[in-house]
This record gives sequence, C-alpha cells and structure tokens, in this order.
Amino acid sequence: MDSGEGPMRATTAVARELALQRLLTVWIITGLTFMLLPGTFLGVWNLISIAGERTPAHIDPAWIQAHGHAQLFGWIGTFILGIGFYSLSKMGAIPEFAVSRGWLSWALWSGGVTLRWATNVWQWHWRWMLPLSALFELGGFLLFFITVRRHRPEKPLAAVGPGPRPAWMVLVVFGSIGFLASLLANGVVAMQSSIANASPAVPHAVNQRLLALFGWGFPVLTIWGFSARWLPVFLGLHPPSVRLMYAALAADVAGILAAGVDAWRFSTAAIAAAVVLACYGLRIFAPPLNAPKVTGVHRSFPVFVRFAYGWLAVSASLAVSASLWDRAGGLWGSSRHALTVGFMSTMVFAIGQRVLPAFCGMRVLYSPALMFWSLALLNAGCLIRVVSEIGAYESYAPGLWPLLSVSAILEMAAVTIFAASLLLTFRQLPAHLMANSQEKSGQSVMAS
Ligand code: HEM
Repeated sequence: MDSGEGPMRATTAVARELALQRLLTVWIITGLTFMLLPGTFLGVWNLISIAGERTPAHIDPAWIQAHGHAQLFGWIGTFILGIGFYSLSKMGAIPEFAVSRGWLSWALWSGGVTLRWATNVWQWHWRWMLPLSALFELGGFLLFFITVRRHRPEKPLAAVGPGPRPAWMVLVVFGSIGFLASLLANGVVAMQSSIANASPAVPHAVNQRLLALFGWGFPVLTIWGFSARWLPVFLGLHPPSVRLMYAALAADVAGILAAGVDAWRFSTAAIAAAVVLACYGLRIFAPPLNAPKVTGVHRSFPVFVRFAYGWLAVSASLAVSASLWDRAGGLWGSSRHALTVGFMSTMVFAIGQRVLPAFCGMRVLYSPALMFWSLALLNAGCLIRVVSEIGAYESYAPGLWPLLSVSAILEMAAVTIFAASLLLTFRQLPAHLMANSQEKSGQSVMAS
C-alpha cells in the first residue's frame, strides 16, 4: 500500500465529516425558519383570531392546515431529515455522493414545504401547485431514504454488535416508513383535492385521518427510537425493554390503521395502550440507574424530558375522551396540542439543545439559561392552551377564551428563545478553537 494513502484517506474523511456538519447546520436553520415564520407566527395569528371571535369556525381551514404542515413537515420533518443525513457519519465511511445528495434533497424538500405553505395561504394556481409541492417533498424524502437505506457501515457499529437490530433502530426504521407513508398519503390527497375540491383545504374527515398518521406515525416513532438510543445515557435510565417497545410499536401501528377507517374509539384506545407500553418500555418514570449527564446543558433537562412523556400520556387520554365526548373540536384540538407542543416540541427543545451543538460543528450550547426559559415558557403555554381549549371550545368554561391568546404569546416567546439559543450556539467557534482562543487571550493578559 502507498504510504501516503492512509493520511489522504483520513483527510478526505475529515473533509466529508465537516461537509456533513455544514449540511446539517443548514437543515437545522431551515427547520427553525419554518418553525418560526410559516409555523408559529401563522399559528399565533390563527389562535388570536379564534380567541377574538370566540369560535374557530371563521378561520379558513387552509390557513390552519398551512400552519400544521409547516410545523410537522417544515420543522420536525426537516430536523429528522438533517439528522438522518448526518447520522451517515456515525455509520462508517461516508460515501462521496452523500453530501451532494443531501443538498439536492434539501433543495427539493424546502422548496416543496414552502410551496405548500404559500399555496394554502395565497391559493395561486393551487390546483397545480398543491400536487407539485407534494411531489417535491416526496422527491426530497426519497433521496434521503435511498441514501441512508443503501448505506452499509464499513464494519458493524460497536453499539449494534452481532445479533438482531436493537429496538431503537427498529423504531427509527418504522418512523421512516411512517414518514414515507405520510408523504404518499399527502400526495394522494393533494391530487384528489386538486381534481375534486373547491379549495386547497383538505376536507375535515380526511384531514383527521391524515393527522393521526402525521402525528403518531413518523414523529412519535422516531422520537421513541431516539429516546431508546439516547435516554439511557443522558438520563441514566435502565436500558429499554425490547419486548415492551415492540408491543408499543404494534399498538401504535394498529391505532393509526384504525384511524384510517374512522374506528376512532379503537384507534385512540390502541394509541393510549401504546403510550403506556412505551413509557414502561423506556423506563422513563422509573428510578434511574445512573446520574444524568447534564454537563453543558441546564440541569433541569431530565425533568423536562419526563414532562414531555407526561404530555404524551395527557394527549393519549384526551384523544380517548375526544372519541367519546368531543362536540366542538376542543378535546381533539387540545389532545393534538399536548402531542405536538407538549411532547414533540418539548423533546426537540430538550434533546435538540443537548445534541445539536456537537453535531453542528463540535460546539457547546451558548446558554443553558436560555434552554431553561425556552422549555419553561413552552410548558407553561402548553398547559394554559390545553386547559383553555377544552374549557372554551367545548363551552364548559367560556371565561377561558382570553387565555388562549396568553398561551399563544408564551409559546411564541418559547420558540423564539429556542431558535435564538441554537443560532447563537452556531455562531460560536467550535469548542476546541474556543478553548485555544481563550488560552491565547489568557496568555496575552498575563504578558501585558
Ligand atoms: C407555537 C404555538 C402554536 C400555536 C399558537 C398554534 C395554534 C394552532 C391553532 C390555532 C390550530 C387550529 C385550532 C386547533 O385545532 O387547535 C392549530 C392546529 C394545529 N397545530 Fe398548532 N400551534 C402552535 C404550535 C404547533 C406546533 C409546534 C406544532 C407541531 C409540531 C403544531 C401543529 C399543529 C397541527 C398539526 C394542527 C392541525 C392542523 C390541521 O388541522 O391540519 N402546532 N395550531
């Protein structure tokens, strides 16, 4: 073997790792942009209008769906895809084409999500733009899917070892299949709407079924997978129970399939069972085995991760109640909010601020205090929203209408702080360069 080959290969590997870090940073900034502008600001606008009029009936469903799509696909989906591409660097040699595919996928994906949002809001040539946006999104996802699926590690990962795949990997694979199924369903419905509907808004009954897949399909399963992978380390939990996690997966899939045929009582009961199994399987509320690892993040981090799973249980219970007693959308809406904001957003705020600084260029989190405030305001806003949405929409306590606006402002503050926390972190030097520059400035102070 040529003696220069080893160092050259190492240099190429470092260059690809850096290229993947840059790619991930751009995916994350794109996700933050969708979260803040088309997602949260439109959500806040909708909610303040609903609270002002004391009914959601006058808000264009196309606007509400534009908000939901920007949050679920534009924010959560974008984060998942970016982290998915970056995970190639942890799976052995990074193929040469991975980075260029990552950029092409990003262009298709973010173009598709932007087009969908703009079409729902302005309705410009919507009969063409709606299916086109779905095609762009699907194209972006498929590029990701084939790149990651075909990639084989050079040698088996140490964490995986011989034998069957670990539960976290199976959950993440099912999460990706759920993601693909969501995009296919979205494409079919977009096509049907463009042929048969009078507006880009998906009809209510179809949208309810889609939301079960979009919510409990890809984000929940992917977050369970990441939880099984990382929480034993970060929170010092016992290793997850493989048996219970597979049972949770099966119950969740059964719940989503039942929602597809409008068997809502069975669907919500199966999903509630899935949540109980997942909480036991991940041992989230059991006494931990080791001390949590909170270096570099706020020490409240483990508490908020448990809050997130508490919200998941609240969401599942409210969904069961909604299938029995909902009259005006308040129980369904509050269940969805407990899921999307209470569970998904709290998990992304907590785990994201724990891992993304390192993934996006070996940085340290800019400020653990900002992390705390983002999580505290998010959870306070979510609590007010979930309680007041039930009371106000369902007419149990009409005095709660004004509190909906309060919850919107608190949650908007929370997501703005979260975005600021990550952006300020990305502006810093990588940790080793920061240590060098601090050392140098210390030396020059000593010299003077
Ligand atoms: C940040 C503050 C947020 C506000 C003020 C807000 C507001 C709203 C409002 C007013 C609705 C319609 C009424 C209802 O059914 O409750 C709604 C629906 C929805 N929201 Fe949010 N939301 C926020 C955050 C989020 C987040 C973070 C996500 C996802 C990660 C999300 C996902 C959804 C979805 C999927 C829907 C249903 C859309 C549809 O009907 O197709 N929201 N939101």
